[in-house]
Amino acid sequence: MHTHYFSRLGFILAVAGSAIGLGNIWKFPYMTGTMGGGAFVLVYLFTVLIVGISLLVAEMLIGNLTSKDTVSAFEELAPKNSKKIWKLGGFMAFSGLLILTFYSVVIGWIFYYLFLAFGNSFYSDIKASENLFVGFLGNDIWTQLFAHLLAVIVTFSIVYKGVKQGIEKINLILMPLLIVIFLLLLGYSISLPSFGKAFHFLFDYDFSKINSETLLMAVGHSFFTLSIGMGAIMTYSASASKKTKIFRDAIIIALLDTTIALVAGLTIFSFLFNAIDEPAKGPGLLFIALPAIFAQMDFVGQFISILFFIAVSFAAITSAISIAEPSISITTNRYKISRLKAVVIFAIIVYLVGALALLSNATEFSNALTFGSKNLFDWLDYFTTAILLPVGGIIIAIFVGYIIPKNVTRKALDNSMNDTIFKFWLFSVRYIAPIGVAIVLLNESGLLG
Ligand code: TRP
Repeated sequence: MHTHYFSRLGFILAVAGSAIGLGNIWKFPYMTGTMGGGAFVLVYLFTVLIVGISLLVAEMLIGNLTSKDTVSAFEELAPKNSKKIWKLGGFMAFSGLLILTFYSVVIGWIFYYLFLAFGNSFYSDIKASENLFVGFLGNDIWTQLFAHLLAVIVTFSIVYKGVKQGIEKINLILMPLLIVIFLLLLGYSISLPSFGKAFHFLFDYDFSKINSETLLMAVGHSFFTLSIGMGAIMTYSASASKKTKIFRDAIIIALLDTTIALVAGLTIFSFLFNAIDEPAKGPGLLFIALPAIFAQMDFVGQFISILFFIAVSFAAITSAISIAEPSISITTNRYKISRLKAVVIFAIIVYLVGALALLSNATEFSNALTFGSKNLFDWLDYFTTAILLPVGGIIIAIFVGYIIPKNVTRKALDNSMNDTIFKFWLFSVRYIAPIGVAIVLLNESGLLG
């Protein structure tokens, strides 16, 4: 199955490329904005630390032990009498297709904004900038459908070519570039008088703002941003060398991912507060605050805005690829379907469902595509992030914590964990992750009263 294993750096970069994406740059800032700031950030950071990293390790372990697609990996590691049941766990990979529907719509928005950046078409006034975005989402259906098509085609053609060679190289160049751009932006935002306010908004917590929904969203988001709970990391780890230092790599990746999110949050809120007072801006935040500030910076601003949207495009695409690959890998390995066929079928499904999601934001169709409290776009996001990923995480935790024999996990982590850390890890995987996440889920569903 493997013609090519990732190099050591290539593996870290590919997983970091998966982790660092729209979740960090688009979702994290706006969720923080709508969920009340610091309280959300605190729960998110806490979850990354005590559950996220352990599950990252758990996923890497399943993939690296077997070098197989997610379904075959669960099947191989499960004991003889329960292979049929555990195998089903591997099908969590298909939740990726659902994630990809709205994810590729947002990549389309990024593409469009890159196009606008080239044309120097941003407004320096934040209200005008907001109107541009709201008008784009509400009325500009054809442009969005086209941009979404482009996003789906780009994503699936890279996946078709085979993830490994391509991704390794792209990540190697673009991830550092993204980091440099953000550090420049951060430097600029520190010079703004509003930086302090942004800092307090992100790091002062008001516990009264934590309710069951904030809790679930923060937990869900920490899964989303680390790409855990659907087998993406598992699939990449199947192509990592058997000598991989799993725990060390997990720490590096979680650190990188968290840093980018916090820097993005600080930057975007400094820019926003510099112009207006209110934090809550919803999904438009990235597309409103940043373009306005770029426009205020004139020529340099245009240059940075182009670089910025290029880097975000790549960050998003390297993530999108990792969301698609697990389902493709299952279908081609287990069902004798050619890679081309699998890619085309999934691309069409993702495009069509994504198109409906996109229409559910448009003025003309939003009524027809709104169900209860959310439109289709928000439902897809909510259902995958807040439900499917946490459930996937629980399955992974139970499987690695109880089903794979302890001597096997111990041996696999031998080269990167000492006994104490291993005990902590096992405790997290056996108790904290499954029980904690289950309580948060049940709490929000109302089942806990
Ligand atoms: N982590 C990516 C982001 O933050 C998105 C992503 C990639 C993802 N692979 C995933 C989310 C697997 C959930 C599961 O944008």
